[in-house]
Amino acid sequence: MNITVIGSGYVGLVSGTCFSEMGNKVTCVDIDPIKIEKLNKGIIPIFEAGLETMVLNNVKNKNLFFTTDLSEALKNSEIAFIAVGTPMGDDGSADLQYVLAVAKSIGKSMQKRLIVVDKSTVPIGTADKVKATIQKELDLRGVDIEFDVVSNPEFLKEGVAIADFMKPDRVVVGSDSDYATEKMKQLYNPFFRDQDRFIAMDIRSAEMTKYAANAMLATKISFMNEIANICEKVGADANKVRIGIGSDQRIGYSFIYPGVGYGGSCFPKDVKALTKIAKENGYTAELITAVEDVNDAQKLVIAQKIVKRFGDDLTGLTFGIWGLAFKPGTDDMREAASIYVIKELVKRGAKIKAYDPKAIDEAKEHYLKGVQNITYADSKYAVLKDSDALVLLTEWKEFRSPDFDKIKSLLKSLIIFDGRNQYNSFNLEAKGFEYYQIGK
Ligand SMILES: NC(=O)c1ccc[n+]([C@@H]2O[C@H](COP(=O)([O-])OP(=O)(O)OC[C@H]3O[C@@H](n4cnc5c(N)ncnc54)[C@H](O)[C@@H]3O)[C@@H](O)[C@H]2O)c1
Repeated sequence: MNITVIGSGYVGLVSGTCFSEMGNKVTCVDIDPIKIEKLNKGIIPIFEAGLETMVLNNVKNKNLFFTTDLSEALKNSEIAFIAVGTPMGDDGSADLQYVLAVAKSIGKSMQKRLIVVDKSTVPIGTADKVKATIQKELDLRGVDIEFDVVSNPEFLKEGVAIADFMKPDRVVVGSDSDYATEKMKQLYNPFFRDQDRFIAMDIRSAEMTKYAANAMLATKISFMNEIANICEKVGADANKVRIGIGSDQRIGYSFIYPGVGYGGSCFPKDVKALTKIAKENGYTAELITAVEDVNDAQKLVIAQKIVKRFGDDLTGLTFGIWGLAFKPGTDDMREAASIYVIKELVKRGAKIKAYDPKAIDEAKEHYLKGVQNITYADSKYAVLKDSDALVLLTEWKEFRSPDFDKIKSLLKSLIIFDGRNQYNSFNLEAKGFEYYQIGK
């Protein structure tokens, strides 16, 4: 099939590349000429395991193309995916300006029958807006071209995005057109040859499914963090409680790890957008609002532990930070806890030495740009030399089982603040460390 994917960020680039891997001819479009120039030179603008090889192979096989020219891309396409950002607007609702700008461009340039797919996470009813926007442009042009708008929310997880896309748990498609549903089935069939995971439904339910999934996962995280905070107060150990409840199949182990709260480009904005959607429709989403409040507070729990240990004024102290990305496997720092923790420590006079396997450029260029008193190093041990404590914020694999003797030889004081409860089974107190974690 000939496909256009509009927006070549985390979702667009991964989806487009995976569709091309299955033999489709895919053109990825982006409004950012620098991004497209880089991609055409074989430079991948984001880090995602396995992505680079797959992009390069499919470019070589002439299955994958990059351009800023949407109308050229649409000429041969049967399906156009909209995968642009839907960031949080000033009032907390999803900002649809990019999605609707794409819809307008599609209406201006499409020449033949097209299935337009909303892959971006969009509020319920957006497909109707996309449809109306395209139709308006067609009417202005005085042309009558058949098109469908369907919803196909994306569930990939950054860090394992290629694996998720190539072997999805499910593909949800909301459609009111048998033609479009059938085409989408054909497109996705190669991704689940062993078991049919295609779930067709109406458009609004598909749009809502994405918000419900993210809100459910965020709820699990905030629930466990709240339990961890109570554990601390009552002298229980959240690590043991996690194992105790996760063993119940109805609860499960995933998303109940106590930590520094959820971040990233999706949960924070989608949880907020869902409360807004509910409010606009006359319903107060109390549980989901509380999920967000708990998370906002949780991002600073590790900074509060540092202040409790060292006092309000951190002048003269240096902290070695392990991990900047919002989670392992990605260079994405959107809404990462590291931003909040580092800014809080710096505000109190501390110096920061930070290391992350992939996100240092993101920190320097965007998220911690202009922050004083921060330096970066190219190894995890380098940031510990003469630091007053190690602060773990992202659970990258290379941090999981470090050389504690080496850490001892580098740190000025033997203190570890573990924002991801990675070291609770290492008996660090017996090794001579002061050890602080979440929920104990
Ligand atoms: N990142 C994730 O893990 C993830 C997972 C599931 C769903 N989503 C959703 O997918 C959508 C995209 O997220 P993302 O993380 O890929 O965003 P992103 O910011 O990484 O990428 C968006 C891209 O769209 C481009 N763009 C903006 N306007 C454009 C236009 N008019 N024409 C062409 N390109 C344009 C931008 O230049 C950018 O490259 C969002 O709605 C998000 O909520 C994201």
